[in-house]
Amino acid sequence: MLKKNGSDVRCVTLPAGTFYNGDCISGAARYIPDGSVDLIITDPPYGIGGDTLHKHYNRNEEFVVDGYVEIPEKEYGNFSLQWIREAERILKPGGSIYIISGYTNLYHILAALKMTSLTEVNHIIWKYSFGVFTRRKFVSSHYHILFYEKPGGIRTFNLESRYGLNEKNGDGRSLNNTDREDVWQINREYKPGLVKNKNELPLELLLKLIQYSSNEGDLVCDLFLGGFSTAIAAIGLNRRATGFEISSAMFDARICEIERMEPGSLIPLLRAPAIQPRKNQRKAWTDEDIRYLVREFKKRRASGETKKEIIAVLGDALGRGRWAIIKALKKSACNK
Ligand SMILES: C[S@@+](CC[C@H](N)C(=O)[O-])C[C@H]1O[C@@H](n2cnc3c(N)ncnc32)[C@H](O)[C@@H]1O
Repeated sequence: MLKKNGSDVRCVTLPAGTFYNGDCISGAARYIPDGSVDLIITDPPYGIGGDTLHKHYNRNEEFVVDGYVEIPEKEYGNFSLQWIREAERILKPGGSIYIISGYTNLYHILAALKMTSLTEVNHIIWKYSFGVFTRRKFVSSHYHILFYEKPGGIRTFNLESRYGLNEKNGDGRSLNNTDREDVWQINREYKPGLVKNKNELPLELLLKLIQYSSNEGDLVCDLFLGGFSTAIAAIGLNRRATGFEISSAMFDARICEIERMEPGSLIPLLRAPAIQPRKNQRKAWTDEDIRYLVREFKKRRASGETKKEIIAVLGDALGRGRWAIIKALKKSACNK
């Protein structure tokens, strides 16, 4: 359903979520409640001149949709602060945000993040080939992914969503660990002959972020939808999705694809991780284990460890999952 809301924002509401054709700063302030979003993945305009963006890519521009809206360099700092403050407000406590940024204006994004309560989890380097030819300097081949969290809740991080902890490659190296290193090599999709945004994020990258940092049914938001790649990945993994795109040309070019998307349709394409069950999973608790749990929990709390850290350590020690530990602590009235 396409609606105009008495302002210059149009919205389309689908079973998987609502999408807004308008400015994300004023739009989020008006339409997205505080603490309602589980995960934000966003790729803001780069502030390097949208009309020259194609020079970074070696491809046929015929199928690239016109209408990418750039931010003038001198406004980039203030613009970044405004949208990052909105992102901070709409995230749930414990929610995650990934911001994809080039190098030119990275300092503005880092400065804006510093002015919020959001805290750094990782700085990921995304390596790929631009297809740019240079002779007198090194070849630019990476972007930055800033992974931050909103304090105040337990952040989702699905440790074994892609590789089980015990899975190894031919050389005996842990596949799980390798997948979680902070340099990722993922190539752009060239999609010859298909309609696209000027710099669409690859599905492989988005699936990885969504698998680790959200669960089915969670709400995933992209403040700069562009070609709606975040929404496509999120709906495909049976998450709810929302977001903003200021360009009507971009919005109109992709919204039909979103309307046709089958929730969960990408799940069968995912690799199934080989996860070994926890040693004591589904076994009844012994009195001795409960006493150990309560004693260790109190001792560690008193020495300043966070609940999250303690739950992880005691889960390993007792051969039980996180939820089993939380439930047992609640039962013994410890987890206050
Ligand atoms: C780098 S692109 C996003 C690319 C997207 N992640 C994808 O994979 O296609 C940034 C997008 O933000 C849009 N944009 C610029 N200013 C905006 C604003 N104030 N609110 C919402 N969208 C905006 C641009 O038109 C552009 O499509």
